[in-house]
Amino acid sequence: MEIHTRYMLLGCLVLVLGFVSGGESAISRNVMKEIIRINKEGPYMGIVVPNNFEMSPLLQSPSFVGDVKFGFLDFSGRRFHLGQVGKQKVIVIMTGLGMLNAGITTQLLVTLFRVKGIVHYGIAGNANPNLQIGDVTIPQFWAHTGLWNWQRYGDGPEDELALESNGDYTRDIGYLEFSHYNNDTKNVKSPDNLLNRVWYQPEEVFPVNGTPEIRQHSFWGPVNDYYFSLAERLEGMKLTGCVNSTTCLPRTPIVTRVERGASANVFVDNRAYREFLLSKFNATAIDMESAAVSLVCIQNQKPFIAIRALSDLAGGGSSVSNEAATFASLAAQNAVDVVIKFINLLS
Ligand SMILES: *[C@@H]1O[C@H](CO)[C@@H](O)[C@H](O)[C@H]1NC(C)=O
Ligand SMILES: *[C@@H]1O[C@H](CO)[C@@H](O)[C@H](O)[C@H]1NC(C)=O
Ligand SMILES: *[C@@H]1O[C@H](CO)[C@@H](O)[C@H](O)[C@H]1NC(C)=O
Repeated sequence: MEIHTRYMLLGCLVLVLGFVSGGESAISRNVMKEIIRINKEGPYMGIVVPNNFEMSPLLQSPSFVGDVKFGFLDFSGRRFHLGQVGKQKVIVIMTGLGMLNAGITTQLLVTLFRVKGIVHYGIAGNANPNLQIGDVTIPQFWAHTGLWNWQRYGDGPEDELALESNGDYTRDIGYLEFSHYNNDTKNVKSPDNLLNRVWYQPEEVFPVNGTPEIRQHSFWGPVNDYYFSLAERLEGMKLTGCVNSTTCLPRTPIVTRVERGASANVFVDNRAYREFLLSKFNATAIDMESAAVSLVCIQNQKPFIAIRALSDLAGGGSSVSNEAATFASLAAQNAVDVVIKFINLLS
């Protein structure tokens, strides 16, 4: 019903735009017509992926069959690849690096197309020493861990944050204190640090069915319950552990559902911060996009799941860390194998 209404709205929109602007709006008449034709054949599963290195193995997989009629649609610097995985019609889209790109691209996808759900995948840094390169994780919750209130030097944990009393910021989630990470071997007496501490903040969200401009807050965004329970059937899947006949990982990679993942516009190659993300947030996968895709799906009330294959321990510390480059494409391939299996489970 909702989908049908949206389709009719798009139809009206194309008429209005054509009439009012003579086709000079952001979405040209021809593109809008094409989108309407594409949507007639929907709905689609949206598959959202950060970069080409992770997307290519999917587009090149025999399990992905490109749509002969539409192929792809280019809009706003993005390419929407149309096709099918098993019985599911899909639109595959590459976001580019980071939270803003991931958010924009996902919003374009759900705004323009009839999308019934979003599967996001890629590789991620690992914060959990019990897992290894090539393992594929499916976190139940994602948070954006890069939205901070950076506290004034001299203030302590009992002091209110700037603008906290307005409800703009909170101390509920907790903080990272820089002086906890001083290497004090030379200067034992001085744990002080001018950077003081940063407090983690939830995102403001404005869900489509809420009142516009009335903010809600979201820190831990859950993935879709049904998708997450379906993903249990991916555990035990057979994955590749060798790049060739002689170079293999210490053990065969696994698929595992985990509790939490964390995203921010930060490439974490730092052991102390990785250990903090595990001890404070129980984060396993650390990346730069998943929570952004999750937030857009929460706002638009679209079912969402993220499937992230681990690369090495972020910041080093295991025997295979310096072999990340050797195994990165294996990790990307494992993520794709799991995504394909997941899409097939949906039918
Ligand atoms: C702390 O600094 C000392 C001296 O520079 C160094 O040997 C040691 O490895 C450092 N510790 C850590 C945990 O980095
Ligand atoms: C297997 O891959 C490794 C790492 O890329 C490479 O060094 C090695 O030469 C390859 N071995 C064979 C038999 O292709
Ligand atoms: C942390 O997450 C793991 C799975 O990722 C889970 O088994 C464990 O119970 C969690 N620990 C806590 C303290 O919540």
